[in-house]
Amino acid sequence: MEKVAIVTGSSSGIGFETSLALARNGYFTYATMRDLKKEDEIQKVANEENLSLEVLELDVDDEKSAENAINTIIQQKGRIDILVNNAGWGLWGTAEDVSLDEFRAQFETNFFSVVRMIQKVAPTMRKQGSGNIVNISSVAYISSKFALEGLSESLRYELGQFGVNVIIIEPGVIKTKFFDSMKTAKKADGGETYKDITLKVITGVKMMAEMGTPPKEVAQVIINSIKEEKPLPRYIVGNDAAMFLEAKKMKTDIEFENYLKKELYSE
Ligand SMILES: NC(=O)c1ccc[n+]([C@@H]2O[C@H](COP(=O)([O-])OP(=O)(O)OC[C@H]3O[C@@H](n4cnc5c(N)ncnc54)[C@H](OP(=O)(O)O)[C@@H]3O)[C@@H](O)[C@H]2O)c1
Repeated sequence: MEKVAIVTGSSSGIGFETSLALARNGYFTYATMRDLKKEDEIQKVANEENLSLEVLELDVDDEKSAENAINTIIQQKGRIDILVNNAGWGLWGTAEDVSLDEFRAQFETNFFSVVRMIQKVAPTMRKQGSGNIVNISSVAYISSKFALEGLSESLRYELGQFGVNVIIIEPGVIKTKFFDSMKTAKKADGGETYKDITLKVITGVKMMAEMGTPPKEVAQVIINSIKEEKPLPRYIVGNDAAMFLEAKKMKTDIEFENYLKKELYSE
C-alpha cells in the first residue's frame, strides 16, 4: 500500500530536503508551502527524479488553509502516514524587549499551528492504527520549542495506544535560510538596554550558522527514525547539538549557565 506523507514549510531548508527524502524513500509526499511562487525548485527536482511528490498550498497559521490541505489529501489518498511539523521561524530579542504580540505571533506558527495540524491528522492516523508525527524542535529549547517538547511528550501517552508515534527532532545549528529570515523584536532595534547582548548573540549564531550542519542530515535522521519499529521520543542532529547536550548532562545547572554565557557573549 502506498504510504502518504505531508511536510509543512517545504519551500526551503529542512522541509525542502525532508520532502524530497520522503519521496525518494517511496512515500507519496505532499510538500506544502504558504507561497506557491516558491514551488519551482522542489518541483524541478521531483520532475528530474520522477518522484511521487505534489506541492500543496498550506499556511499553517490559517485554519481554512490547513483544512483545505488535509481535505485534499484525504480525498486523493484516503490516508496519512507521516506528518512532519517543520514550518517555523525565529525571533531575536530578550523577554523584556519582545512584545506580547510578537511572542504570540511566533507561538502561533511554532506551537499552535502544530496543535492545529495534529488535531486534523490524528483522527485519520488513529483509524488506521498507525502513523508517525514528527515535530521539528531545537536543541536550543527556545520558549516556543520548549512548549512543543512538552506537547510532544504528552502526545506520546495519548496517541501511542493507537499505534501513532510522536517523534521529536532536535537539530543543532543547521545551514538554512532560517537565520536570514529571523525577525527582530521591534523594541530590540531601538532599545539600548540589551542592544549589546542581542548583537553579540546574533553575530555569534550567524557565524555558527555558516558552519552549520546541512539540512539533508536532518532529513536523513527523520527517515531513519520513521523506519524504526518503535521510534525513540527524540533524535538529535549535528555535532554541535551532541556537544551541547553532553555539556548539559555533565555540568551542574550553574556550570552549564556559565559555559553558555561564555560561548554566547565572549568576543
Ligand atoms: N536552521 C536551524 O539552525 C534550526 C535549528 C533548530 C530547529 N530549526 C527548526 O527547523 C524548522 C525549519 O527551519 P529551517 O532551518 O529549514 O529554516 P527555513 O529555511 O527558514 O524554513 C522555514 C520554513 O517554514 C516556513 N514557514 C514559516 N511560517 C510558515 C507558515 N505560517 N506556514 C507555512 N510555512 C511557514 C517557511 O516558508 P517561507 O519560505 O514562506 O517563509 C519555510 O519553508 C523550523 O521549525 C526551525 O525552528 C532550525
